[in-house]
Amino acid sequence: MDAPTHHNPPLFDVNAGTMPRGGDIYTFLQVRQSTDNIVAPLSDEDMLLQSTPDTSPPKWHLAHTTWFFENFILREFEENFVPFHPRFDFLFNSYYDTLGEYLPKNERGHLVRPTMHQITDYRTQVEQRVIALLNSVTGEDLETIQTLIQLGMHHEMQHQELLLMDIKRNMFSNPLLPAYAPIPLALALHPHTTVEEKVWGEYPGGLVQIGADPEAGFSYDNEGGQHRVWIEPFQFSLDLVTNAEYMEFIEDGGYEDPALWLSDGWAAIKKNGWKHPLYWIPSDKGGFKEFTLYGVRELEMDEPVSHVSYYEAQAYAKWAESRLPTEFEWEYVSGLEGYPFHHGKLWEWTQSAYLPYPGYEPIAGPLEEYNGKFMCNQMVLRGGSFATPPGHYRHTYRNFYHPEQRWQFSGFRLARDV
Ligand SMILES: [Fe+2]
Repeated sequence: MDAPTHHNPPLFDVNAGTMPRGGDIYTFLQVRQSTDNIVAPLSDEDMLLQSTPDTSPPKWHLAHTTWFFENFILREFEENFVPFHPRFDFLFNSYYDTLGEYLPKNERGHLVRPTMHQITDYRTQVEQRVIALLNSVTGEDLETIQTLIQLGMHHEMQHQELLLMDIKRNMFSNPLLPAYAPIPLALALHPHTTVEEKVWGEYPGGLVQIGADPEAGFSYDNEGGQHRVWIEPFQFSLDLVTNAEYMEFIEDGGYEDPALWLSDGWAAIKKNGWKHPLYWIPSDKGGFKEFTLYGVRELEMDEPVSHVSYYEAQAYAKWAESRLPTEFEWEYVSGLEGYPFHHGKLWEWTQSAYLPYPGYEPIAGPLEEYNGKFMCNQMVLRGGSFATPPGHYRHTYRNFYHPEQRWQFSGFRLARDV
């Protein structure tokens, strides 16, 4: 038997290159536990709700994140692999077309069966099998499996944020507007900021390096290849646009002035009847209340405006005689030494379309479908939100959504040409 090590396993070090065996198991179980913690306040009834085609039932997230490990690791490396259930590939494959047919996304709310009990068993069994596999392989296989587990952990962390987005959207669809969690837990889950006067940074730009260094720890394939981008001098707001500022836009008739809107944006607000951000609730006394993860409360005017679409962010920026930053400006400023803002508020819309970087190389095999196939008709969001798990933030991270989507934790800041 090996001598006991005196090193503690790394705490939540999901970004390290390869870690000592034990460290990765510990981290793997921590990430899995965090998912269970998020759904702990939910009832079994809550677990099945899919209130819009964009959202997934919480129990589907629990099974799908498990399927990811089962399909991409156990199926490939386990001797005499037998799936937990022969039909789970069909139920819990999200969108990997090369792997075969799968349940249409808008039917995930039909899954009364398998029961929560079975899904909990599924999670536990796959975890145990992943750990057994890690303990039994050596050499090249071990490295490949460690890399895949790391990807699976980041995938699960992405789903942890999705869970909170979907739970919020689901609760909002209920006329009782129930709270997901009582204060104070939920207080920690709501963006907080103290915004004073808007401060603009001025940056010279120039020729800058964009994209993730593959040697510097974990990153998704869509953050490479590294390449150079020329940036003209620009101004960059050091704060996100606040509820108070967004209220001025509404009161000034922002939603009624077609000159402010992109053609698609104008069509979207007409089609959806939008007159304010997603979770604002017009109050009897005038003004707005806001639905949050802990129920309805007064709209906090100095908090960043959240749950706006790209179209609304763009119209506001035009009204404010500014524009949204490009993803390159955002990455450049956030990479500067002593950069003046931090992760932890909201994902920020940029005016950059989600496209492959020069030299982009997708992961080989079915996992090529993880990011690359979505590089059309979506916009890049940068930063990370209060719901982004620790360890999942990178300043090169490229999140992406359709311009009309606004159930994600999205806000924005302004930029200006100099
Ligand atoms: Fe997924």
